[in-house]
Amino acid sequence: MDSRKQLIKNLPKAELHIHIEGSLEPEMMFDLAQRNGVSLPYADVESIRAAYQFDCLQDFLDLYYQGMSVLQTQQDFYDLTWAYLLRCRDDNVVHAEIFFDPQGHTGRGVDFETVFEGISAALRDGEHKLGISSQIIMCFLRHLEEEDAMATLIEAGPFVDRIAGVGLDSSEVGHPPSKFQDVFDLAGELGLRRVAHAGEEGPPEYILEALDGLQVDRIDHGNRSLEDPALVGRLAELKIPLTVCPQSNLRLAVVADMKDHPIRSMLEAGLNVTVNSDDPAYFGGYMNDNFNALVDAIDLSEAEIIKLVNNSFESSFLDKASKQKHLESVRVLAGA
Ligand code: ADE
Ligand code: ZN
Repeated sequence: MDSRKQLIKNLPKAELHIHIEGSLEPEMMFDLAQRNGVSLPYADVESIRAAYQFDCLQDFLDLYYQGMSVLQTQQDFYDLTWAYLLRCRDDNVVHAEIFFDPQGHTGRGVDFETVFEGISAALRDGEHKLGISSQIIMCFLRHLEEEDAMATLIEAGPFVDRIAGVGLDSSEVGHPPSKFQDVFDLAGELGLRRVAHAGEEGPPEYILEALDGLQVDRIDHGNRSLEDPALVGRLAELKIPLTVCPQSNLRLAVVADMKDHPIRSMLEAGLNVTVNSDDPAYFGGYMNDNFNALVDAIDLSEAEIIKLVNNSFESSFLDKASKQKHLESVRVLAGA
């Protein structure tokens, strides 16, 4: 094995951009459809995989929302999350900050509590049985109205001390961060962290709005920041983390070829970038697959791998002592 792929395997890592519903593998989708008597427009698992050809974000989102219709009971959300945690164990992901989309479930009649308790129970077991720490980030669907997001934040009230932060996802273009100013302000007042998808398909102005308006701690994706040198300078100076998702970028045509992936330019510009899987069941790979794809396509170096892994812990919502512990273990394992 290439020594860099061995290094990727050996190093502990944090994942900061993973939609738990995007880890629903076709096999589980099929099993849960049967368990819950949901009919899917596919004859078998192979036809589901064959349907995963996307020209843009919306193509993917249409199938993503259809796929999550099989998730109905607390046990379903437990099984989904547990399967992701087993992938974390395989990839040596020791800390995960997990997005979920409550409106994708409450909108079709599944209670917030069912979703939240199923995910939480698996995360608790992940901590106890696998030693994987985790936090939960509740995302608002930006194609819906802000009142909907506000109602979701209020519904989350009884669980808020178990939620690390709020995020913003779904169809980006035409739904700028400013549409969600009030709900992000309230989240801030409740002591929640704030992150937002911005600059995946949307323009650099959306990244500025997320930073200056929504007061986010991190930008999810952020690829299009590169179009605005002043913005790049600011993101670099403030060390704002960008949670970059290479295989997602390729599969959603944000980049035409993995060889064109801008992660090296981002690092060279001093941006605080991390590597993440986004929706691994739909985009062809989990954490290590994303790193390995960069080794194959752009010859990612050992130094770049170590930098990206260190960034993942430094950009996490872990406390200082936990960050130090993980960074020290990266230092030892990297032989630095
Ligand atoms: N929801 C799940 N994955 C997403 C992505 N990559 N961008 C926006 N919304 C999403
Ligand atoms: Zn995402």
